[in-house]
Amino acid sequence: MNNRAHWSGRLAFILAATGSAIGLGNIWKFPYITGVNGGGAFVLIYLFCIALVGLPILIAELFIGKEGQANVVDSFNNLEDKKSNWRITGFVGLSAAFLILSFYSVVGGWVLDFELRSLLMEFSGGTNAAKGVLSELFASPYRQSIGHTIFMLLTIGIVLGGVKNGLEKWTKLLMPALFILLALLFVNSLFLPGFKDALAFLFLPDFSKLESHSVLEAVGHSFFTLSLGMGVMITYGSYLKQKESLIKTAIMVAFLDTFIALIAGLVIFSIVFTYNLEPSGGPGLMFQTLPQLFSQMTGGSLLSIAFFLLVSFAALSSSVSILEVVVNYFEETKKVARKKATLIVGFVIYLLGFLTVFSTNILADFKIFGLSFFDLFDRISSSYLLPIGGLLISLFVGWKLSLPAAVKIVGEDRKIFAHALLWILRVIAPLAIVIVIVDFVMKHIGA
Ligand code: TRP
Repeated sequence: MNNRAHWSGRLAFILAATGSAIGLGNIWKFPYITGVNGGGAFVLIYLFCIALVGLPILIAELFIGKEGQANVVDSFNNLEDKKSNWRITGFVGLSAAFLILSFYSVVGGWVLDFELRSLLMEFSGGTNAAKGVLSELFASPYRQSIGHTIFMLLTIGIVLGGVKNGLEKWTKLLMPALFILLALLFVNSLFLPGFKDALAFLFLPDFSKLESHSVLEAVGHSFFTLSLGMGVMITYGSYLKQKESLIKTAIMVAFLDTFIALIAGLVIFSIVFTYNLEPSGGPGLMFQTLPQLFSQMTGGSLLSIAFFLLVSFAALSSSVSILEVVVNYFEETKKVARKKATLIVGFVIYLLGFLTVFSTNILADFKIFGLSFFDLFDRISSSYLLPIGGLLISLFVGWKLSLPAAVKIVGEDRKIFAHALLWILRVIAPLAIVIVIVDFVMKHIGA
């Protein structure tokens, strides 16, 4: 009945899903937004969201793909056996994909830039080397454009080759390598004087620091970091054969993703507190802290080469998943050849990315609602489009597909869990999302 490509096996799928989830969101974004939002209380809410909202929606999203056996839009149609109104979820996801990949690629470009500088040994000049380098990069639309161009070309190249072929091999090798390197950095940070402060900052919640936008950001980030609400997991789930179990995979992806984010956070904040840097340093945080450390460590230059290389691979296995969603949609519904779809969509996103490139220089003073294009794209997609996409996915599986779906996911013999999952999807997760968004919007209209 269906002849779409499928993963070569369970491991391949787990790797691809984990590869999509683990990326800049964990190593760059999580530490930076945690710093901006004051630490512990934010982390606690984020963890809460992963467990209660993210994980169930991850399961739901994979289920829609696996059963629907199509792209983000058609999976809904297939499940309802008609042109489903729920397919609007797919369009929310597609628009988020354009926005997210446009800035993701620019940040990926920063990583490539830092890889080049590591190779040129630019981070061996003591403590202030890193800081100057970052502001120089931000000030230069030219340098950022080069990084953005290369990152986007790599993403397009991999998607052209088909996600299964190119990506599987590399992720199998490089994800474990990244884990090992992070473990090494973590052990090193245990010996830094700032480690205790980092622990306290991340794990001692101070709720007085929490504002309603922090809560919204925590919810949004739980979607961003698990690649949810945009159809990645629908698309990847659709490449699954019918036998695979979703729950175990979903739990593993959520666990690994969270674990990596927390380790990255501890590593980065240990450096912050050791060298008296600013925890709320913003999007540049990772790029200021790590080179600082590398420039002081024995073997630091080599570590820095390895680190930025592995982070760029982690970023690529995520960016590829974003582009794949859109390409798969155009390929199937509009019958555009895969190659053409990849090139056109990639190029449009590439152009959009320049608004982010210019956000730190030419257009630095240009603000919409007080936000640069970079922040605006991030805010619209992470805080609104992804949670709304997730909300619809949750409601669709909870109310429309209902108990039979939950039983199918959990297994015949565990009806209690099926009911628990069902009510989380029907009420708890949607309510959490709605309350947080409404709370934020009310406070801001009121203010
Ligand atoms: N989850 C990835 C990260 O943390 C980014 C990502 C990939 C993503 N696909 C996504 C974010 C889909 C939102 C939606 O780096």
